[in-house]
Amino acid sequence: MQVVMIGAGYVGLTTGACLAEIGHSVICVDVDAARIDALNRGEMPIYEPGLEELIARNRTAGRLHFSKRGASAAAEADAVFLAVGTPARVDGDADVSYIETAASNIAPVLKPNAVVVVKSTVAVGTCRRLREIIADGRAGLDFSVASNPEFLREGSAIQDFLHPDRIVIGADDRRASARLEDLYQPLAERGVPIILTGTANAELVKQAANAFLALKIGFINDVANLCEKVGGEIEAVARGIGLDKRIGKDFLSPGPGFGGSCFPKDTRAFAAAGRKYQAPQALIETLILENERRKIALARRVLSELGDRPQGASITILGLAFKANTDDVREAPALTMIPILQGAGVTVRAHDPQAMAAARLRLQNVSFFDCPYSASRGADVVLVLTEWDQYRSLDLREMSALMKGKTLVDYRNLFTPGEVTRHGLRYVCLGRPASKLPVGAAIVARGGKKRKLALGAPSRL
Ligand code: NAD
Ligand code: UGA
Repeated sequence: MQVVMIGAGYVGLTTGACLAEIGHSVICVDVDAARIDALNRGEMPIYEPGLEELIARNRTAGRLHFSKRGASAAAEADAVFLAVGTPARVDGDADVSYIETAASNIAPVLKPNAVVVVKSTVAVGTCRRLREIIADGRAGLDFSVASNPEFLREGSAIQDFLHPDRIVIGADDRRASARLEDLYQPLAERGVPIILTGTANAELVKQAANAFLALKIGFINDVANLCEKVGGEIEAVARGIGLDKRIGKDFLSPGPGFGGSCFPKDTRAFAAAGRKYQAPQALIETLILENERRKIALARRVLSELGDRPQGASITILGLAFKANTDDVREAPALTMIPILQGAGVTVRAHDPQAMAAARLRLQNVSFFDCPYSASRGADVVLVLTEWDQYRSLDLREMSALMKGKTLVDYRNLFTPGEVTRHGLRYVCLGRPASKLPVGAAIVARGGKKRKLALGAPSRL
C-alpha cells in the first residue's frame, strides 16, 4: 500500500519505518526541512533504539523515503497518516492547529477514495472536524477519515509498534475500516488483536488509556509516600498488588512524577474534555495537580538534605530525559527541579547519555558533562532522575570518593540501600525506609567548614 506519513517526529518516524518494515511503501513528510535533509543523509533527528538500523534497511529496500513536499506525496497515497504534534493549549485542551493545517494542506491533492488516518492523539470529535475541513477544501471528493491511535512508548517504540497489545481502528465507514485492516494484515496474522470501532470511540480509547496509566503512576507514588512514613517497602507492596491480574504489575514504579510529551498533555486534555462536556474527570484533575506538586516537593526534599544553607552547594543531576532510552526532555522532572535548586543558590552540574543537547536549549547556568563520574566530582549531593542502565552499573565506591558530600538521592530506586551505604553514602530513595548511616557520617565540607547534614526523615513531602 502507498502510505504517506505527515509529521516525522517520534511517532511519525517510527510508525513510518515500521509500516515500511511490514511491506508498505512509505513517504515520511515534515515541514522541518532540516529534519528531512538530515534523514536523507542517513542522520537521525531523534534517539530511539533500533530506529537508525530499521530506517537504513527500509531505505535500502526502496520502501521508505523522506520528503519536504507533502502535497505531491499525498497525491499518490492510499492512506495519508497525520502524525503531527498536538501540544496542550493554556486551557489544557489539545492544540489541534497543526493537524488542521496538515489536513487543509492535503485536501486539494488527495486522490479519490483516499483514507486520511489520524495517528496523533486528539480530542474526541477531531476526526469529524477534519472530515469537514477536507470536504470544504475539496468539494465533491470521495474520501474517508479514520482514527488509528498509537500506543508506542519512546525508548521501546519499535517493539511496541510491531508487537502491540492491540491495534485500534476507528472508522465510520467500510472503506476506512477495510483499508486499515489491509494495512495491518501482517500484524493481525501474527495474532495481534484488532479492535474495530467508530472514530469517536477510538479517540476516547487513546485518551482514557493514557489517563488510566498515568493514574497508576500517581497512585503508586502516593503509596510510596505512605511506605516511607510507616516503614514499608514499595517494591514489595507493588509486587503484592501487581500480581493480581486485575491490577497488573506494570506501571507501578515510583518516580519523580511522570513527564514526557504525552501523559502531562493528555491528562490535561482529558480533564479539559470532562469540563467541556460537563462530565468532570475529578480523579484526573487531582492527578495533574499532585504530579506537578510531587516534582516541586521532591526538589525541596533534595534541598533539605543540604540543611538550612543550600547556597553555594553543588548538586549533580544524573538523568535529564523524562525516562530512559530517549533524548526527549519534554516535561521531564529535571526541567522543573533544576530551576528550583538553582533558585535556592545551588550550582547544578548534569549528565545524561542522550538528552544533553535537548536539555541545553531549555536550561540555563547548568554545566554539562560527558561522563557521570566527572559530573559528580566535588558534588555535595548526587541526584538520579532517569533510570538509565548506565547509572545502575555506576561504581559507587568511585562515586563516593569523588563526591565532596556523601548523599545520593535516587528518585528511581536504582540501587538497594545496602549497596549504597556500604560505600559511606547516605541513601535517599522512594518508598523505602531511610538509610541507616550513623548520624554525623554524612558530613558536607564547604568553604573549608565542616557541617552536619540534616538527617531528617527523607519521606517528608
Ligand atoms: P513530534 O513533535 O516529535 O513530531 C511532530 C512533527 O510534526 C514535527 O517534526 C513537526 O515538524 C511536524 N509537523 C508539524 N506540522 C506539520 C505539517 N503541517 N506537515 C508536516 N509536518 C508537520 O511529536 P510526536 O512525539 O511524534 O507526537 C505526535 C503525535 O503523536 C502527538 O499527538 C502525540 O500525542 C502522539 N503520540 C506520541 C507518542 C510518543 O511517544 N511521542 C506516542 C503516541 C502518540
Ligand atoms: C506513554 C504511554 O506509555 C504510551 O502507551 C503512549 O503511546 C504514549 O505515552 C503517548 O501517548 O504518547 P511514554 O510517554 O513514551 O509513553 O513513556 P512511559 O514509559 O509511559 O513513561 C511516561 C512517564 O511515566 C515517564 O516520566 C516515566 O518515567 C513515568 N513512569 C512510567 C513512572 O514514573 N513509573 C512507571 O511505572 C512507569
